[in-house]
Amino acid sequence: MENHPASIWGDETPVVASVLAWAAQRVVTASDPKWTARPASELAAETGLTVTPEGIGAQEALRIFREVLAPATRAQDDPLNLAYIPAAPTRAAVSFDLATSAANVFAGYWESGAGAIHAENQALAWICSLLGWPRTAGGVFVSGGTTGNLSALVAARHGAEQKHGHPAGRWKLACTADAHSSIRAAARVMDVEVVEVPGDELGRLTGPALDAVLSQTPDVFGVVCSAGTTNSGVVDDLVGVADACEKHGVWMHVDGAYGGAGLCAPSVRHLFDGIERADSFIVDPHKWLFAPYDACALVYREPEKGIDAHAQRASYLDQVDRAEWNPSDLAVHLSRRARGLPFWFSLATHGTDRYAAAVERSIATARVVAEAITDSDHLELCFEPQLSVVLFERPGWTDDQYTAWSTRLAKDGVILVLPTRWQGRTVLRLAFVNPMTHADDVIAALDTLR
Ligand SMILES: Cc1ncc(COP(=O)(O)O)c(C=O)c1O
Repeated sequence: MENHPASIWGDETPVVASVLAWAAQRVVTASDPKWTARPASELAAETGLTVTPEGIGAQEALRIFREVLAPATRAQDDPLNLAYIPAAPTRAAVSFDLATSAANVFAGYWESGAGAIHAENQALAWICSLLGWPRTAGGVFVSGGTTGNLSALVAARHGAEQKHGHPAGRWKLACTADAHSSIRAAARVMDVEVVEVPGDELGRLTGPALDAVLSQTPDVFGVVCSAGTTNSGVVDDLVGVADACEKHGVWMHVDGAYGGAGLCAPSVRHLFDGIERADSFIVDPHKWLFAPYDACALVYREPEKGIDAHAQRASYLDQVDRAEWNPSDLAVHLSRRARGLPFWFSLATHGTDRYAAAVERSIATARVVAEAITDSDHLELCFEPQLSVVLFERPGWTDDQYTAWSTRLAKDGVILVLPTRWQGRTVLRLAFVNPMTHADDVIAALDTLR
């Protein structure tokens, strides 16, 4: 006689069907640009207590998510969301994120995740080929640029410490004021000092400025350059930085979390010259490579250096075959989902040519909008955009006027544009990563700045 206990969870089949039906609908339907964050007190009042001893049941939990919780989030993929760095995942990528979750692969070690890791590695190999790196280069997908930067810098410091031993004082890393906030966060976690190198007129790190600092500063283990600063979308002088790093024997890390996608766009590829000499690089597919959250590709020119710094050792890990490719060994993590798979699937589906065309489209949109700003009589462009971030001013406006305008248009679901600070003044910032953004719609919205 069969004596298996019934599933402790009961029959979950209807749950699966309902959840997948909502997900399938969302994948093909744009989210509402009026969706927005709400006070916790309002959400608490509308949801009631959802975590209870008896459970509220899947249908009720799903209703609450659909009607209350999802609309209290921002539409990152709305074509007129131009704030921070938005997102524009392909439907192929988002739907494959569901498949990735369903497959539930432990993609830390080859022995458990070989198939998934193989596909992730093909996507990483494409990135390494764009960098002009040797075929022996490689890496891992981590959760985001912050973890990617931290992991690369830990590997850089580990290498320096192996070579030179521990300095009398603290280790130092060098970057400009415009390096992303995650670099200073990494420095705090690592307890290293940040040496600020003066940027050029656009805030870019240049070879001569870096050389001057490295000549006078001992114990610098690494330099962080930006290949697309978050605030203004400019690329550092990578050739000059590579020269200075080589001269001083310092690790060169390139943060391309946002702008690294530009590597595949022929019209801007020259801006990245010198990147072939970097030691490590990151790019977030969830930013401008059309994948959903959360995925950062972290690659090392010599992956052994990442492994030396990061591989965890313990008796319960002795069985892991270290001759295989084990993504857990390449960053600050152990358990990991195969978060590179949605990106790989989208890339495999659409092909790298279409990826290049999609990135080019955002660059073209940025240029058209920048030109309209230059031609307008009520706005001033701060500088010609290098990639796809456009900064501009409405001369005569106060901070309060900028904020009021931005808030009103966001509330009406017209466009999401936020002010930022640039060279000591308040300006407006547009970040284009969505190939479905139409320049005409943006220009029409900017007309309301009159
Ligand atoms: C240049 C740059 N580096 C790092 C990050 C941090 O990435 P994440 O938010 O994925 O941690 C960002 C985020 O916008 C970025 O633009």
